[in-house]
Amino acid sequence: MSTVDDSPRATAAPSDAAAPLLEVTDVSKSFGGAHALRGVSLSIRPGVVHGLIGANGAGKSTLIKVLAGIEQPDSGVIRVDGASVSVADPDAAAALGLAFIHQEMSLIPGWNVLRNMLLGQKPPTRLGVIDWRPARKRAKVVADRLGIGFSLATNVDDLSTADQWLVLIARALMRDARLIAMDEPTASLSAAEATRLHRIIRELAASGTAVIFVSHRLDEVSELCEDITVFKDGVVTKRTVASRVSKAELVSAIVGRDLVIPEHGHDAPAVTGRPVLEVRGVSDARLVRDVSLTVHAGEILGLAGLVGAGRTEVAKIVYGAGRRTGGTVLLEGRPIDFREPADAVRAGIGLVPEERRSEGLFLERTIDFNINIATLSSLRPSLAWPLLRFREGRRRAEAIAKAVTVKAKDAGAIVGSLSGGNQQKVAIARWLVDTPKLLLLDEPSRGVDVGARAEVHRVIRELAARGTAVLAISSDNEELVALCDRVVVMAEGRVTGELTGTDITADHLLSLSFDRGNEKDAA
Ligand SMILES: Nc1ncnc2c1ncn2[C@@H]1O[C@H](COP(=O)(O)OP(=O)(O)OP(=O)(O)O)[C@@H](O)[C@H]1O
Ligand SMILES: [Mg+2]
Repeated sequence: MSTVDDSPRATAAPSDAAAPLLEVTDVSKSFGGAHALRGVSLSIRPGVVHGLIGANGAGKSTLIKVLAGIEQPDSGVIRVDGASVSVADPDAAAALGLAFIHQEMSLIPGWNVLRNMLLGQKPPTRLGVIDWRPARKRAKVVADRLGIGFSLATNVDDLSTADQWLVLIARALMRDARLIAMDEPTASLSAAEATRLHRIIRELAASGTAVIFVSHRLDEVSELCEDITVFKDGVVTKRTVASRVSKAELVSAIVGRDLVIPEHGHDAPAVTGRPVLEVRGVSDARLVRDVSLTVHAGEILGLAGLVGAGRTEVAKIVYGAGRRTGGTVLLEGRPIDFREPADAVRAGIGLVPEERRSEGLFLERTIDFNINIATLSSLRPSLAWPLLRFREGRRRAEAIAKAVTVKAKDAGAIVGSLSGGNQQKVAIARWLVDTPKLLLLDEPSRGVDVGARAEVHRVIRELAARGTAVLAISSDNEELVALCDRVVVMAEGRVTGELTGTDITADHLLSLSFDRGNEKDAA
């Protein structure tokens, strides 16, 4: 039997093992005139991790929402254990034994970890009184299994993004689900944390649970997933088994052509211009200890380390969202102490925060509004839109959105209706219209597909070539290797080393990330 099948309408499972748990046949879904899914068929086997990959906007999340009962398909059939089912709403999905971790963070802000984990649980009643004890006990077991180190009484607002994702994963594990679908669960995790999640997923599969795993990290998909389905523009373009497919084949199924991804983006040594940002001996009340680094004009400086190493905190201190307790920060030689991010933007700093959906974008506004907002009298969306600049603004927005391959009808599309990765691209695109003095990027290509990532990197390099100083935080060592001229590594709130040029390798980055010492020049 052929295991690789490029025909979009083929329905055969890649292997002839157990009967499928879930079958999707010929499912279509459009939004307005846009086809998010066109005749999609796939089958999910019990005990198998099934990878779902494809470019931003290809339809992965839409399929997951259909299975979760959040969206209703226009046509097609869903079967569980061979019987046709209708998933009218999320409760129906839960009753079928399906659990979901969606791409949009869905924690209840202000609630503690335990309450968030218990959300959706239906505890037994004893003598008319709800008995939460078994659920609480179970929450503890699940938390231990995930290696959750923080207390379950912690307010989720106080957790890092990565820890918040762990809570979402914990919530899904609270159910005895037969299938868990995870939409980009590792996008916000560092390599070490992702590895921990991989182990848990393997255990789940070994115990018979089916897992749907969405990711743009092709290496992890090849390693973790047995079955792989590739989407492009709402159509299945490839179904295969991981052991028989190369990364290059996956990439070409995703982007529809062969793509050469540069291994190393910085063959030429960095031109060190004048210092633009100088962080000197900065500490904060919690984690950051005596951090110093300098970013020069035209330079792309990476900030590496594990999630929780203090990198985002350092960036926040620079742009006025965090408070320092010691040290100084200079912008073009002058001390700065911004009270809020808007002040930093006014001073010529471009900002792509880690949580851009909540902090960086106006989801209910259009692409061109979101891109041009940075260049207008910043951050005051309610001010009248200057009519004269409208056309010019839209034209520029369209050009820049196209450069970073935002998939949308035109620049008048509402950002909230874009796929997750395309929203990320809009958040980055807005800073590419002008040339900021300093560009702070926190996880620039999180959630961005493999083709667009190369484009985003190219545009960042162009900005640097025009003189912008770039500070890029990334948990993706491959990205740091490809993008940066120089990398500063942090661990546990301190700088553990610095790498330049061809010394920037995944191995060096990893060993410095785990370095607990405080040597300045480990490199
Ligand atoms: N509620 C909606 N209204 C309008 N269009 C939508 C809506 N939800 C999704 N779409 C469109 O459907 C298409 C598929 O989006 P989907 O979110 O499924 O992509 P994806 O493969 O998950 O992408 P990503 O990798 O960026 O997360 C996109 O073109 C998107 O703009
Ligand atoms: Mg998605």
